[in-house]
Amino acid sequence: MAILASSRAAGLPEIQVSPLQGALLYVLARSLGARRILEIGTLGGYSTTWLARGLAEGGRLVSLEIDPRHAAVASQNLRDAGVGDRVEIRVGPALDALERMTAEETVPFDLVFIDADKPSSPAYFDRAVALLRPGGLVLVDNVVRRGDVTDPTNPDVNVRGTRELLRHVANEPRVRATVIQSVGRKGHDGFLWAVRA
Ligand code: SAH
Ligand code: DHB
Ligand code: MG
Repeated sequence: MAILASSRAAGLPEIQVSPLQGALLYVLARSLGARRILEIGTLGGYSTTWLARGLAEGGRLVSLEIDPRHAAVASQNLRDAGVGDRVEIRVGPALDALERMTAEETVPFDLVFIDADKPSSPAYFDRAVALLRPGGLVLVDNVVRRGDVTDPTNPDVNVRGTRELLRHVANEPRVRATVIQSVGRKGHDGFLWAVRA
């Protein structure tokens, strides 16, 4: 996808989902018949574009991004990919946006993709479930990290944040969840999948 080239040219970190994971996001959005998708962590709009292409006719995607430079690159990429009209990027800390959306009792989402700062993942997950319709899906990226997430002594803040998320999800009665590992161009990692009861 041209998005990877233009993101690299703009100096963005190369931490997008892999192409196969992107295709999975499309498959899931499409098979859910998703009309409302929420993404946390836009970067250059690569995963955003896969998700937006999976939206049902007339569907909309909201993507939250803290870095205005990333959001600017993403806006251009989304326009170039022909999905700019379906996507709204909200620039600022995701937690603030999520609090606002919860207070405003926004129309529930069919699918939420969480892929931002990992120590905040448990908080994002909590808000995401509150914003999700019954039968809706929450996906979280980077929950395997080459197996690092299975090590309780690993000091990395991203690993610790993800371990906290997994503990939290296991005790969250509003969802049933699993983790699917994947191996591909981006190495060995995986998504958490949680469906709202
Ligand atoms: N989903 C993208 C990759 C996202 S990388 C893809 O696969 O193509 C993670 C992004 O989260 C970065 O752009 C980073 O700026 C953003 N981010 C980090 N902390 C954030 C926060 N507190 N609120 C919103 N976005 C945040
Ligand atoms: C990295 C990969 C990611 O998918 C992400 O969201 C953050 C960081 C990485 O490879 O460092
Ligand atoms: Mg990621």
